[in-house]
Amino acid sequence: RTVAVVLAGGTGTRLGLGIPKQLLKIAGKPIIEHTLAVFEAAPEIDEIIVLMATGHVAEAQKIVDKAGFRKVTKVIEGGDTRNATTRVALDAVGAGDCNILFHDAVRPLLSGRIVRECVNALWTYSAVDVAIPSADTIIQVDENECITDIPVRATLRRGQTPQAFRSGTIREAYRRAEGDPDFAATDDCGVVLRYLPETPIKVIDGSDENIKVTHPVDVHLADKLFQLAAAKVPRLTDHRAYSEEVSGRTIVVFGG
Ligand code: CTP
Repeated sequence: RTVAVVLAGGTGTRLGLGIPKQLLKIAGKPIIEHTLAVFEAAPEIDEIIVLMATGHVAEAQKIVDKAGFRKVTKVIEGGDTRNATTRVALDAVGAGDCNILFHDAVRPLLSGRIVRECVNALWTYSAVDVAIPSADTIIQVDENECITDIPVRATLRRGQTPQAFRSGTIREAYRRAEGDPDFAATDDCGVVLRYLPETPIKVIDGSDENIKVTHPVDVHLADKLFQLAAAKVPRLTDHRAYSEEVSGRTIVVFGG
């Protein structure tokens, strides 16, 4: 059994809309509906659980009912932090071994290819992350905004979601984290890395399109990307697909 957990427990303070950003409509649908549609359509996914921000569970349930998503078994309230939401999700998934994919509700441009590769990687690895290379140089700064380090760019990746796990691995990592008063993490692979350091975490290729709607500009980007998808414009944003596309094909130049 493979369960997709859609993390929608946040309120989107950086976007500052007054409603949780996952409810914002882009290309005619709430962001979370686009996200759920990807898992609903993915043959590798058996079940979907939605963790929604406090006070908005009924709205999320309405979206699920209206769209007729049959794989969604639970729409429940998340926690105060992203990791607290993951803990609620682990309880909601229930006992028994399964694969669990945790995905940010606000990454609506996830592709079926990424879902498939995450699930396939779980045959070999018990923890899987999705990431893309960084075009920007990443610098580390101190509290005075002065540089302390510039890590070698070739070794850096930008983490996305889904993050996928065999249930036993992620449960054990969170069990160990529970006893740690200094627990702090912003994602789930970070919890495995810290509390089960012997576990290899496989990284598979993400996509430039799999953006996290975080700041106002991301709303425009996501809208444009959905337009391109609807118009079936050839896409050159997926790193692997890109190298396959460009060999022997005309490259479409946007703009002008
Ligand atoms: N998330 C969650 N539970 C929380 C906080 C965040 O499930 N308590 C989810 C968000 O809903 C989002 C994903 O984690 O889908 C990524 O988080 P982020 O982009 O930081 O979302 P918000 O917390 O909503 O945004 P902000 O930090 O701007 O408030």
